[in-house]
Parts: sequence; structure tokens; C-alpha cells
Amino acid sequence: MAVAEVVVVGSCMTDLVSLTPRLPKAGETIHGHKFFTGFGGKGANQCVQAARLGAKTSMICKVGKDSFGNDYIENFKKNGIPTEFVNQAEDAATGAASIVVNSEGQNFIVIVAGANLLLNSNDLKRAAHVISKAKVMVCQLEISPAISLEAMKMAQASGVKTLFNPAPALADLNQEFYTHSDIFCCNESEAEILTGIAVGNAEDAGRVGCILLERGCKTVIVTLGPEGCVMVSTKAPTPKHVPAQKVTPVDTTGAGDSFVGALAFYLAYYPQLPLEEMVKRSNCIASISVQTTGTQTSYPYRKSLPQNLF
Ligand SMILES: Nc1ncnc2c1ncn2[C@@H]1O[C@H](COP(=O)(O)OP(=O)(O)OP(=O)(O)O)[C@@H](O)[C@H]1O
Ligand SMILES: *[C@@H]1O[C@H](CO)[C@@H](O)[C@H](O)[C@H]1NC(C)=O
Repeated sequence: MAVAEVVVVGSCMTDLVSLTPRLPKAGETIHGHKFFTGFGGKGANQCVQAARLGAKTSMICKVGKDSFGNDYIENFKKNGIPTEFVNQAEDAATGAASIVVNSEGQNFIVIVAGANLLLNSNDLKRAAHVISKAKVMVCQLEISPAISLEAMKMAQASGVKTLFNPAPALADLNQEFYTHSDIFCCNESEAEILTGIAVGNAEDAGRVGCILLERGCKTVIVTLGPEGCVMVSTKAPTPKHVPAQKVTPVDTTGAGDSFVGALAFYLAYYPQLPLEEMVKRSNCIASISVQTTGTQTSYPYRKSLPQNLF
């Protein structure tokens, strides 16, 4: 069986997007002018970005036994992601995000996690041999938090690096998530929910990073949108701002997942590279993703990227 260097334990969601002139009121039916579906979910997004950079990956997740689930499995295959641990639940629907966007870009979003919440310990146990041989395990919080934590513990017990993205953030995140994160990567709003400190610039991000180190993380990265990110670690305890290139963003949806997926790729394939260089390259890849519309549709492939990134 093929070995995976990057293993993602996380979510899959189908985005169902309607574009309308305005948002409907309660009980009202309105007509939109465009409908499309998209592949999303933070876990799957991060896995797809890592795979497009050339990583051998494995996705451990749960979809429904429905057409969205079948389509998602096809999407993984098209991206070269093995699906032996993409399980189909009989008793829940594939995760879905129903999104209505008006002409001003304001939105209503309803997420039903569905089958994502049925991913369980047995699913992890069946993948134990793949997890133990990986270089990097990536987890988020769109599945049951207890399962994410269990996956990170399994990884660390086998010497596999853990990259944890606490998204969506929980104010009362179990302390064990910090102590089991080799790299803890969050955005500004997640950093604020976790620490109570508003993050408006690189200096704030550095302060928050230091607090998260005290909670037990080995390395913290706080992403700052157009400003790139700040990194800090127990080994290099002075926060370092790593700026992103100036670009004209078209659609920033999924930029954070592009960043995390790219970082997972570098951690697995270029472990000898200084972290700052990995982060610089991940900024570069994520900043390319914001220049095209859509989520996974905006993630670049290795062949279209400058070869000095590899
Ligand atoms: N406008 C931008 N210009 C250049 N790079 C960007 C821009 N927005 C995002 N990025 C890149 O993407 C990374 C992640 O962005 P951000 O901090 O906004 O994550 P996020 O909030 O999780 O993303 P999302 O939009 O998916 O919620 C940044 O660290 C940066 O590298
Ligand atoms: C951070 O990520 C969350 C998803 O966890 C998203 O809802 C939020 O808008 C992001 N914040 C910023 C500042 O981009």
C-alpha cells in the first residue's frame, strides 16, 4: 500500500451557493440569478492544496452515502488523493454549507456538518498504520474535537509532526490541543477567541503567539491576511513577522486552508528548510490562491508555480 507523507483528519463539505439581488426575509421566497456547487470543508481543502503541490496524502474523513458524497470521492480521486479512508455513513448526509450571497457580497450561511461528526475512533484505528508512517498530520475543528485530539495523540506517539488549525475556534479549547501541537496555526479572529486579545497587527499577533506558547505549543503561526503572518516558537521566542507579497485579491475564501496545506507540504518534503522559509513560501502560495475565484478552484498546482518554490 502507498505511504502518505501528509495525513489529514478532517472535514468535507459541499458548498451550495445561490447569488441573489438581496437576502430573503423570514418566510420569503426570492429568485436568484445563479447557482453553483463547490467542494469545501477545511480538512479537504488543506489536503487538496498539499496534493496539488505534489504531496503524497491520505484523507481520513466521513461523507454521506449520497450523491454529494459520491461526487466528493470523485473530487479526491481527480486530485490524486487516495480514498481508502474516506468512509460513507449510512445515517447522515454529506456535510453541506448553504450560502446565499447578495449583490453587495453580504451573505447568509448555514452549515450542517452531518457525516463529518460521525468520524470516530474506529475510523482512526483502521488508518493507524498509515498515520504512524506519515511525516505530518493535519487537523482542524470541523469534526468532533475529541477525534481531532485523538488523531494528534496517535501521530505524536509515532513521532509524526502535528500541524493543528483551530478552526472554527472554540473559546474553551481543551488544553491538550496546545500540548499536542508541534505547529499551531490560527488566523486573527481565532487568536482573539482563544486568548481574548484582539489582533490588529503583527505586534498583537506576536503577543498572542507568546501566550499560546505558554499554553504548550512548540511553534505558533498567526496568519494576518494581506500582511502575511507572524511566527514564534519555543526555540526562537522573539516573534518574527513574515510579510506576504502585495497582490490584488479577487476572492480570499479558503486562503487560510491554502496556507496550511502548503505548510504541511513543506514540513513533510523539506524538513531541513528553516521554518521562516517554509512560511515565506506558504505565504506565496496562499497569496496566489486569493487572485482567483472559488476555494479549491483557486489552489495552484506545482506545475504552474515558480520552480524556486521547490
Ligand atoms: N490580500 C492578500 N494578499 C496577499 N496574501 C494574502 C491575502 N489574503 C490572504 N493572504 C495569504 O493567505 C494567508 C491566510 O490568510 P488569512 O489570514 O486571511 O486566513 P483565513 O482568515 O483563515 O482565510 P479565509 O479567508 O479562508 O478565512 C495569509 O497568511 C497570506 O499568506
Ligand atoms: C478566520 O477563520 C474563520 C474560520 O475559522 C473565519 O470565519 C474568519 O472569518 C477568519 N478570520 C479572518 C480575520 O479572516
